[in-house]
Amino acid sequence: MAENQQKLIHTFGALAELGSEVADKRNFQDMIRTSLHLLLGSLAIMRGGVARYSRFGHELNMLVVRGLGEDFPLSLSLCYEDERQFLINGLNVIEVNQAKVLPFYQVYHRSLEKKRVELLVPLVVRDEIVGVVFLGEKANGEPYSSYDKEIICAMARHIGVGIAQRNLMAELERRNEENRRLFDNLRMTYKDTVKAFATAIDCKDKYTEGHSVRVGRYTEIIAAELGWETEETEGAAIGGYLHDVGKLTVESKIINAPYRINAKESAELNKHPAVGYEILLPIHHPYTDVPLAAKYHHERLDGRGYPDGLEDKEIPYIAKIVNLADSFDAMTTDRPYKRRRPANEVIEDLQRNAGKQFAPELVTAFCRAMLKEVTGETKQKKFRRSLGKDYMEAEGIVPLLQNALNGISPTSSLTLVSLD
Ligand SMILES: [Fe+2]
Repeated sequence: MAENQQKLIHTFGALAELGSEVADKRNFQDMIRTSLHLLLGSLAIMRGGVARYSRFGHELNMLVVRGLGEDFPLSLSLCYEDERQFLINGLNVIEVNQAKVLPFYQVYHRSLEKKRVELLVPLVVRDEIVGVVFLGEKANGEPYSSYDKEIICAMARHIGVGIAQRNLMAELERRNEENRRLFDNLRMTYKDTVKAFATAIDCKDKYTEGHSVRVGRYTEIIAAELGWETEETEGAAIGGYLHDVGKLTVESKIINAPYRINAKESAELNKHPAVGYEILLPIHHPYTDVPLAAKYHHERLDGRGYPDGLEDKEIPYIAKIVNLADSFDAMTTDRPYKRRRPANEVIEDLQRNAGKQFAPELVTAFCRAMLKEVTGETKQKKFRRSLGKDYMEAEGIVPLLQNALNGISPTSSLTLVSLD
């Protein structure tokens, strides 16, 4: 009795250890190895192995073996009948005499008999085969008692759960990866659709071809220079691409007037931010600020903008960025009634209006991004792509940009930019 008690304490100790091994998900292979060693050690079994079942390949792949030798097959194919029998048997010990009827045993009987495999335990967890434990003879040569078999089943159940958990994790990871890929595809489709839409908006205005696309690009440059995360930067760019969507409802003759439009026409045109907001609001954007970019991209820090005459802190940040990008494009492209202005004038204008129309830290970020491109600090050619090589290589542009960077103080309360 005392010996039995000792044995019981010993095996339950091993079982407890096995439980904590299974719970430790850090290294699956180590967990299986330790579990097998604990199982063999607790009942003094000479040799054994744990195989994981692949339901795609219909095979048992050995995860870990001990004492079975190098010539023991690492992969054992199962047929439908083997799988059916394992499922009927459930997680219970199969003695070698019973196993002889199984088709797979008949295929691998030489290896199994040579290594004196005496017991098989199909690891059936939640009605699924996840693996099989192979066990050789006991060190003392005695047959397995029913008590031994109970212990083996209890420990095998832990191993089976460990493998099932691992399978589940692998499945989750696979689905996660698939979801990520689907999401990326969706995001790409969204971006492409937005760009196509921006091109459609630009088509309406024959004098400012490519305006929305360029504003999207400049907005992206500013957000990236501010150090925004990729997704936020993308969101800002979308705001830029779609900021003038309200113009789709403005008459073409007003948009394309080859003269300065009158007050009535101007009032009509100035409705486009609010209309754009109405158009964009019901759409479920991945970025929340997109409709705000449309509504407030003509507001100014000093409150002299429209439609609501908002001041500095009242203006959504995205709208401030788009406003700068929009104004920069207006200054650097030909319009029907005026030619584009040279780079030096534009930079001076930005500097002069920092704190009045534009948020100073945004002008700084924009100038810094431009300087990086002009001096070759960055290999990107985003400005060059929009403005042309010659424009960007205008004489004196570097000192002007440096001067602007030194001269603008970040007086705006919104200083998300790091001024290095
Ligand atoms: Fe606009």
